[in-house]
Amino acid sequence: MNTRHIDIIVLALLVLFLSTGCGKNDAFIAKTVDNSKQQHAEIENRITPFSVVNIAGTTAVAVVSLPGEAKYMACSACHGTNGEGGMGPALAGQTIEYIVGRLNQYKNGEKVGGQSNLMWGQAAGLSDQDIQDLAEYTATL
Ligand code: HEC
Repeated sequence: MNTRHIDIIVLALLVLFLSTGCGKNDAFIAKTVDNSKQQHAEIENRITPFSVVNIAGTTAVAVVSLPGEAKYMACSACHGTNGEGGMGPALAGQTIEYIVGRLNQYKNGEKVGGQSNLMWGQAAGLSDQDIQDLAEYTATL
């Protein structure tokens, strides 16, 4: 073995050593790095969305909507999103019994006020269940 061969072997060992990343792939060092900043950040990132989901889930359970809420969409144009009234009288603050009574009157084509004709068409297609659901919803407004 001449000096030139030894040079090549030393160079090869140097290349091998450098290509391992100077201990970068060492299991112990890698573990130490993960347990510090990087892993803490990853754990936080995983916990945060879960806690948000839990809060949102709890809120969703608390605000389960009444079936009348969707049906009331057809009424809100005239009676207001919050039943405050508009083209039609305010419904907020009325009892379930009152609303059920009025809707049945309109459904039967009875004249209540000067603009009952506007309600006849609205009430004609409502079932007893629709009327009950709507009244239960407007009573919460
Ligand atoms: C086109 C507008 C319009 C729409 C849509 C409408 N209403 Fe009316 N509503 C009126 C008007 C106007 C009156 C007053 C009628 C009268 O003079 O008797 C009224 C009266 C009422 C009354 C009686 C209020 C009171 O003070 O005695 C109730 C209850 C009612 N509406 C419920 C509903 C519901 C429930 C819906 C949806 C299914 C609805 N209305 C859709 C215009 C509307």
